Amino acid sequence: MRVRADRSSADEPGTDPAEPGASGRWTITPARYRILAVAALAMLVAIVATGAAVRLTGSGLGCSDWPNCEPGDFISVGTPNQAIEQLNRLFTGLVSLSVIAAVLGSLRRRPYQRDLMWLSLGLVAGVIGQIVLGGITVLVELHPIAVGGHFVLSMILVADAVVLVWRSGRPAGPRAPVVPPTDLWLSRAALVLVSALMLTGPVVTGTGPHAGDAASPRFGFSIPDVVRVHSINMWLFLTVVVVLLVRLVRTPGIDRLGDGRIVRRGNALLIVIVAQGAIGYVQYAAGIPAAMVLAHIVGATAVLAVTIWFHLGLSAPATPAAGPVGAAMGGGEHHASTVEARA
Ligand code: HEM
Repeated sequence: MRVRADRSSADEPGTDPAEPGASGRWTITPARYRILAVAALAMLVAIVATGAAVRLTGSGLGCSDWPNCEPGDFISVGTPNQAIEQLNRLFTGLVSLSVIAAVLGSLRRRPYQRDLMWLSLGLVAGVIGQIVLGGITVLVELHPIAVGGHFVLSMILVADAVVLVWRSGRPAGPRAPVVPPTDLWLSRAALVLVSALMLTGPVVTGTGPHAGDAASPRFGFSIPDVVRVHSINMWLFLTVVVVLLVRLVRTPGIDRLGDGRIVRRGNALLIVIVAQGAIGYVQYAAGIPAAMVLAHIVGATAVLAVTIWFHLGLSAPATPAAGPVGAAMGGGEHHASTVEARA
């Protein structure tokens, strides 16, 4: 990471000497901080995939030692299980480093933004939480509540990182909606429904063949019943997103940014939901093969990330209300400027 010495911090916006790291210390630019945020997000997504691969292939005991894979061998790839386990160990280290770098970077970023510091601290807290939860999961013999909790916490971390990436690339300050309240509420409903999918999904997993390991306890539900609840959850989510997109496409001028960006993001969301739903049905019909479950887990991460990204895009930096536009947007004292859309 290239940094520059801040020799004129008192003259620069956001470099109040009272802020952490101000005055004569090393600083980084917003563009470079964003790279740190994107790296943290990428590592978190990667660890979701490698962690799932460990569970699905039963590679948790692939290595018999730690930090060496085998006594005397730091790296050992004699079996696929060892390779998968070590890949997961590698990403565990990279995730830890990347979230610490995000916190340190947030303190050195100029202009300093407190929200970025809190969001990146949330990542560190979440990773520590995962380590604790991982230990508890082993103690309770991979009970599905603990395994599911591990997954849900991963999704919270991904959500946090998505917001961090979003905010690190945009100006600080108040934001206001760029769509009418109905559309904003539909988007919030989509967020609630995608969060519910992150709970109903792990219930299916905890009931089915890929919970914990072959010997671990299961939820005592019937698989068809929990899959039905999970798929109804998806259909509700899909319906809300389709209604929202139809409203956005069919009402000219509904989106104050006016450059089609919101609809493009909405289309991307629709595509990932349909693809993920298709994987879900095919994997169920095919008897829940491990490779498809891995694709479904990565797809779930993508659906969550794109839903949040879409929602964040429904607002833009606020400027003082200028008559009827602000009122029509339901934004109270502010309406959103279109500056960000062109930036
Ligand atoms: C947007 C759509 C969907 C999302 C976001 C989603 C999300 C998830 C999540 C988060 C899990 C839990 C993963 C884990 O605990 O490791 C899961 C599991 C599962 N989902 Fe979905 N799902 C969707 C659609 C569907 C559909 C339509 C079906 C088919 C009926 C389906 C079938 C399953 C099955 C069978 C499992 C258990 C896999 C296993 O044994 O590990 N999903 N889903």
